[in-house]
Amino acid sequence: MKKTVSVIGLGNRGTEYMGFLKAFHSSRVEIYALCDIRQQALDDIAPRFSVPEERRFLSAEDFFSRGVLSDALIIATQDRSHCEITKRAIQTGYKLILLEKPVSAVKEEYEGLRDLARERGALLIVCHVLRYSNYYRRIKEIIAGGEIGDLVSINHTENVGYFHFAHSFVRGNWRNESGSAPSLLAKCCHDLDLIAWFADSPCVSVSSVGSLRYFCKENAPAGAAPFCMGGCAAKNTCPYDAERLYIKDPFYKAKFIKYMKRTLTGKAKNRKSDIENALKTGDYGRCVFGCDNDVCDHQFVTMTFENGVTAVLSMNAFSEKMFRECHIVGTKGELIGRGTKLTLHVFGGKTGRIGTFSPNIGGHVEGDIRLIAGFVKILCGEAADLTDITTIDATVVSHDIALAAEESRKNGGAPVFLAAGRG
Ligand SMILES: NC(=O)c1ccc[n+]([C@@H]2O[C@H](COP(=O)([O-])OP(=O)(O)OC[C@H]3O[C@@H](n4cnc5c(N)ncnc54)[C@H](O)[C@@H]3O)[C@@H](O)[C@H]2O)c1
Repeated sequence: MKKTVSVIGLGNRGTEYMGFLKAFHSSRVEIYALCDIRQQALDDIAPRFSVPEERRFLSAEDFFSRGVLSDALIIATQDRSHCEITKRAIQTGYKLILLEKPVSAVKEEYEGLRDLARERGALLIVCHVLRYSNYYRRIKEIIAGGEIGDLVSINHTENVGYFHFAHSFVRGNWRNESGSAPSLLAKCCHDLDLIAWFADSPCVSVSSVGSLRYFCKENAPAGAAPFCMGGCAAKNTCPYDAERLYIKDPFYKAKFIKYMKRTLTGKAKNRKSDIENALKTGDYGRCVFGCDNDVCDHQFVTMTFENGVTAVLSMNAFSEKMFRECHIVGTKGELIGRGTKLTLHVFGGKTGRIGTFSPNIGGHVEGDIRLIAGFVKILCGEAADLTDITTIDATVVSHDIALAAEESRKNGGAPVFLAAGRG
């Protein structure tokens, strides 16, 4: 008999995970019930997965009032609702839950969830998807295998991409701390998770600097209008012109905006006129210098781990492309990574490209696919070794570091010390 999975939150992430379940695991997993506060989402998505009317819910309350409906649950709603919904899920009796990150920007909340999951014997997996890609697993293997000697330091950069940053962190869902989280937590808890995983030791101190440098009204060009398509005098020269990003530019149409169109209009299928109408008055058509955004557009974090390893994470909005880079040095060698290309130099010894079997299929799609494969294994009772699964315990580590970094940044970069064994 097939195992059953229900999904709360039918946006980009929820439907992507459902797509992978259907494409790769439909012989043993069935999507059972769906919940979203948007009727349109239920109407668009449920038929594709053959979920009947009686198993579609317009509120989490309704969904949970029916008790435990399936063997596992995916929660992919927006950031601020994660904790409350997950708490309800555990209290209702779900024992296997896949939760999107960030879990919460409030320490008591994410620690409370960890404790509740332990108490009720629920396995709460958080989608720190980067850890699941072969590329990062290979890096971990090389470090752990001692090929670069003792690990000394990690220098990791998240280049968000100027258009991606504008879409998500200036105009979109993650623009405002009160509505989501600081950009470091929202965008880089994955990166902090990787760094702590590589360092393999508790983080003992954190300091950070950064700010919202550019996307604010002081930087608006002369003649800027509230909406790009509303008579902006700088439209032809502004790289953030919404019409250019969402309608005209073929690169973004192909690679990024195709995926994001649903976000603009709330519809699964869009005509050009739907996009145009959304841009004329909606969030994504706004001038990037006149939004209600307050999250940092660049930030540095330095970390020291108990075993002496040091690390730097740099997050910035200002790159042409979206990609991550890392330079990991040990006493006997170094690893240099860019995108999914990895080079190993052993001092005085071998040097060259390392095969990672990580296909370059865009963003972290490979990690997403492997995360779902791991989730299905656990669901089907096959995964004996849970050491590399990113449970809420790993989340506490990355989130502690992110909150400490924010505390430091707001205090001019003064170090914040984490109790040994935490963070
Ligand atoms: N793991 C990753 O790499 C990764 C990448 C991007 C986003 N995310 C996270 O995934 C989550 C979802 O992101 P997204 O891009 O899919 O967002 P989205 O806005 O496209 O989807 C969220 C969906 O949840 C629904 N929803 C909101 N509140 C709800 C509630 N109380 N009950 C039921 N449904 C509700 C919305 O109507 C929407 O359909 C966010 O927390 C985001 O930060 C994670």
